[in-house]
Amino acid sequence: MSLRRLHHEQPESFAFTAANQKWAEAQIAKYPEGRQASAVIPLLWRAQEQESWLTKPALEYVADMLGMDYIRVLEVATFYFMFQLQPVGSVAHVQVCGTTSCMICGAEDLIAVCKNKIAKNPHEISADGKFSWEEVECLGACSNAPMVQIGKDFYEDLTEEIFAAILDKFAAGEVPKPGPQNGRFAAEPLSGLTSLADGKPVHAENASAGLALAYGDTIKRIQGDEVPLLKTGKA
Ligand code: FES
Repeated sequence: MSLRRLHHEQPESFAFTAANQKWAEAQIAKYPEGRQASAVIPLLWRAQEQESWLTKPALEYVADMLGMDYIRVLEVATFYFMFQLQPVGSVAHVQVCGTTSCMICGAEDLIAVCKNKIAKNPHEISADGKFSWEEVECLGACSNAPMVQIGKDFYEDLTEEIFAAILDKFAAGEVPKPGPQNGRFAAEPLSGLTSLADGKPVHAENASAGLALAYGDTIKRIQGDEVPLLKTGKA
């Protein structure tokens, strides 16, 4: 577990976009009077989605919105490694799972790709400014090991070559299809289905990958205007 501290360089200020502000206020309204602090994680997450990392002004802004002490919000932000406390690559921050299943299945090879294609050290931004990476604990996709999270999505069943090609696509401005990269639909046995074997999936992609493709928002910054899009499911 790395030491999680605020970055030494901070911007002057933070503000939600108008649409994100409206969204944040709607989240707070879900909780009874006096329990507004319960919205801290969604608000911090949206702040990160908007700016790619959590700045000190963003933490203070969220604390002010929720009537929380700054230290309480800092405690939350420093506890969860999903919150980035320093600048990340402008295109994507790659989180490589290095826990048991992924380690056994090749996580170290994926980390070698990160070191080779992005930067030697975790949290170091690549020379072109586009990428950064880190090793994280189990992301809950152990049956599709080894895997990485990029933006909101999982890229699973990776090999060194496939992972390197995915990074190349991101660098070229594409958003590669998330989910299993070895032809599996989801987390069914590698050797094929052992039950319901004559049934065909209703959809071409599993729900997560299908939704990600429809939204195309794997690595998109969220300004809040995307909400109607998310409701309709239209790309
Ligand atoms: S060990 Fe990698 S997702 Fe669980």
